[in-house]
Amino acid sequence: MATASVAVRPHENVTGYVTKTRKMLINGKWVDSASGKTFETYNPATGEVLSHVAEGDKEDIDRAVKAARAAFETGPWSKISPSERGRMIWRLGDLLEKHLEEFAQLESLDNGKPLKIARVADLPLSIDHFRYYAGWATKIEGNTVPMSGWKQGMFHAYTVREPVGVVGQIIPWNFPLLMAAWKLGPALASGCTIVLKPAEQTPLTALRLGELIQEAGIPDGVVNIVPGYGETAGAALAAHPDVDKVAFTGSTEVGKLILKAAAGNLKKVSLELGGKSPNIIFDDADLDSAIPGAASAIFFNQGQCCCAGSRLYIEKKAFDKVVEGVADNASKIRVRPGFDPDSDLGPLVSEEQLNRVCGFLESGAKEGAKAVTGGSREGTTGYFVKPTVLINTNPKMKVVQEEIFGPVVTAIPFSDPSEIAATANDTIYGLAAGIWTRDIKKAHSLASKIKAGTVWINCYNIFDASLPFGGYKQSGWGREMGHEVLEHYTEVKSVCAAL
Ligand code: NAI
Ligand code: MG
Repeated sequence: MATASVAVRPHENVTGYVTKTRKMLINGKWVDSASGKTFETYNPATGEVLSHVAEGDKEDIDRAVKAARAAFETGPWSKISPSERGRMIWRLGDLLEKHLEEFAQLESLDNGKPLKIARVADLPLSIDHFRYYAGWATKIEGNTVPMSGWKQGMFHAYTVREPVGVVGQIIPWNFPLLMAAWKLGPALASGCTIVLKPAEQTPLTALRLGELIQEAGIPDGVVNIVPGYGETAGAALAAHPDVDKVAFTGSTEVGKLILKAAAGNLKKVSLELGGKSPNIIFDDADLDSAIPGAASAIFFNQGQCCCAGSRLYIEKKAFDKVVEGVADNASKIRVRPGFDPDSDLGPLVSEEQLNRVCGFLESGAKEGAKAVTGGSREGTTGYFVKPTVLINTNPKMKVVQEEIFGPVVTAIPFSDPSEIAATANDTIYGLAAGIWTRDIKKAHSLASKIKAGTVWINCYNIFDASLPFGGYKQSGWGREMGHEVLEHYTEVKSVCAAL
């Protein structure tokens, strides 16, 4: 591995941004935490402290919820036209585009991901997300309803979709800015007000986005951003009696805690959780695209994707060729710090994740899995892991059942295509799946049998703001994106008038 020679010149705003202690955004003001405490974030490429951030806790969440409540009930947000709301969200997208390089660098420093990837994936997707939901602000409609059991003309009935109210949003560290965009876009379009809690590992782009939210003209108190730990700030937000809805992305384990915490006031809950997604390659697939496709399905974002194609099922005749191809692909991936222009794969986000992923690699080896390539940490500085392809696994192994959330794929042969749906569905998760074949009948018939919220055919990790994303089974509740997500941020009111 090359050493951390930072070939890309850091953006002046970025160096300035990380050196100053970052405050939290409550009611349009940048403030310290009530306790005065701060926490540190780290550069995952070096393990060194990157910045100091105000540490939010229950009292800060309380202040933020009060501000969001006031903005929702009586503030300018409650009276603003949908068109103006849409314009503000569009402006936010424009501002993000204007500051693209700065945000991409901040994201790379905080999360570890290659800068070149942040530039072409995280940023454009976030910008497009705001633009897509800017358009929805003016298109949230109800229906007029012909009542079925009453004489015609007795009643006039209609439905309206109203914003659900104050929304708590808790997001993870794998796509820090994009997850903020996924959550904020539809909530703003619907007319909700928000308390956002970024992940403690990666709060910087969400906080910087708060400045752009102000610049876009979104009124004070509409978006409040409280960084802090999950067990304190996150838990307080999920349990808060004056929050109407909580939207969460993260581990299935914490998803269940959120659900329990939400029970107190029966707030609405949507959850986007873990996965162990099957990626299925048939003998008749175009292997020239399936092989690099399978590699990027798992190695993209260091494997830290909830929908990563982590269980690679390959029909017997193609098995050796695909394994060899994916392993060859993996061995050519340049594992470097995110600021190195040649970096294809950066460090994992934290020491905790490094230990977690290495723990899985050890357990796989102990249980008899063989690493065709990779299989261990890369270097001794930073949190790098070698892209790894495991064979000789069996369905009971932890590496086959549990979400690793690192650049580790298990390659498993299959011989009976009629059994592959059952094998693919043999998991507690149901987030995504991939199918590679030239036979469209086979592809669509298998797609119908897979219990997952997204099925990619002859592609993988393709996202669009218009396409709903979310999980079956323990991968979550509800959907992000598309018009589907707007249902989570609105309540339906039936109005019935006697004529
Ligand atoms: P996590 O689920 O603990 O963290 C996600 C977010 O939840 C963070 O903002 C965190 O502060 C917050 N949180 C944690 N505990 C909370 C609580 N009790 N109440 C309210 N909020 C809380 O995930 P973690 O520990 O960082 O990663 C562990 C594993 O979770 C990963 O190895 C991966 O398997 C999975 N994960 C899945 C993600 C996804 O996109 N579905 C994203 C991040 C992690
Ligand atoms: Mg956790």
